[in-house]
Amino acid sequence: MSQYSSIAKAKIKSIADLQQMKQAGQKISSLTAYDASFSALLDQAGVDVLLVGDSLGMVVQGHASTLPVTLQDMIYHTQLVSRARQQAFVIADLPFMSSASPMQAAENAALLIQQGGAQMVKLEGARCAAIEFMVQQAIPVCAHLGLLPQSIYQLGKYAVQGKQEDDAAKILADAIKVEQAGAQMLVLECIPAALAQKISEQLSIPVIGIGAGVDCDGQVLVLYDMLDISLGRKPRFSKNYMQQAGSIFEAVQAYVAEVREQKFPAQEHSF
Ligand code: KIV
Repeated sequence: MSQYSSIAKAKIKSIADLQQMKQAGQKISSLTAYDASFSALLDQAGVDVLLVGDSLGMVVQGHASTLPVTLQDMIYHTQLVSRARQQAFVIADLPFMSSASPMQAAENAALLIQQGGAQMVKLEGARCAAIEFMVQQAIPVCAHLGLLPQSIYQLGKYAVQGKQEDDAAKILADAIKVEQAGAQMLVLECIPAALAQKISEQLSIPVIGIGAGVDCDGQVLVLYDMLDISLGRKPRFSKNYMQQAGSIFEAVQAYVAEVREQKFPAQEHSF
């Protein structure tokens, strides 16, 4: 048997497929997932990318922020998700302080890939030295700019970023830098739609938005927000897909369809 035969048979999406979707103007749908049951359901409903986000610290573990989430937590939840999916691409978050140096980032990313089964790791901020070093070790990286939940104690509150001209210019400059450092995907969280559009147009890598308007190359939401099972305040950029659906499966299918048709996010979900 050739060493490539399992790759040839596999239906699991690759970064090349997502890149191809961007080039073809097909919008990429993504949701967070934290366990096997939801992973299988989302996968079958056609979600392209499953993000094992450290948002699990809030929606699964009940913490007030993502800061208490450990690398072990992330490896465990990534295992559950990657095991159950058949076609979706899996990204896992590097949690708070797990990428303080390029070497630490690479070693922890390797664990998320080797033990967790992730295809790519995501880290917050324009951490170009860490990105470059991971890419040199053949680790696929997704950068994350805009609102950075791991910086909540520095920020003071969860708020839209890049509203002032100089902040917007910095986010755009950082987006270009992370692409140059080798990131193959970018998540933009809570920034003005016009800024996200500019970044998506300038970058050749897929740009996935959450609270970043309809002109990104794809959309991601926290699963529990769109299923309306998160406690507390609902983010304005999310949408309750259970309102019109008879089941969770139908709700997820509706989300995928609305992302593909660019019906989500609407103006009311954008800044
Ligand atoms: O942890 C997470 O769920 C995320 C998304 C909000 C993008 O990073």
